Amino acid sequence: SREQTAELVSRLLRDIPDFPEPGVLFKDITPLVADGPALAQVCEALAAPYRDAGITTVVGLEARGFIFGTAVALALGAGFVPVRKAGKLPGATVSLDYALEYGTARVEVHEDCVTPGERVLVVDDVLATGGTAAAAAELLEQVGAEVVAIEVVVELAALAGRSRLEGREVGALLTV
Ligand code: PRP
Repeated sequence: SREQTAELVSRLLRDIPDFPEPGVLFKDITPLVADGPALAQVCEALAAPYRDAGITTVVGLEARGFIFGTAVALALGAGFVPVRKAGKLPGATVSLDYALEYGTARVEVHEDCVTPGERVLVVDDVLATGGTAAAAAELLEQVGAEVVAIEVVVELAALAGRSRLEGREVGALLTV
């Protein structure tokens, strides 16, 4: 069940204090993805709510969203599209800057990554402030996609990512 999967995630997530900077408690998913049965169960649970949602493309957010996103795409029989940090994609891109706690970040997609009207599911490991997911969803709409939902492994409720994604469908296997 989804509850059992949440428990599994909670057991295999590792907290790393002061990474990538002092005061941040980093949620490390590497023990989870290193465990074969756990990886399979988590990716299956991420895909399950969207079995009949007509998803044609799963979008993964760099970098850890690529791991889960590709597996979810395979589970749904969908394609995979990467959202990348600035300067990494080789073709013509559209990009969006978004606010971080200090400064800004930029994400990009290929401008021809979807056919207009395609139904996409956005997948990532962690939803923190929601800035990355919000920017990705907006970018996908700019290139003509319909963003059906954003699905993550872990949501950090204290950072209120959902409020930045108001009006969007957001799913999380585990909320901490
Ligand atoms: C992390 C995480 C999400 C994003 C969430 O990625 O994997 O993509 O931050 O934060 P937000 O909700 O506040 O936007 P990170 O920036 O560490 O990039 P990486 O996966 O390439 O290391």
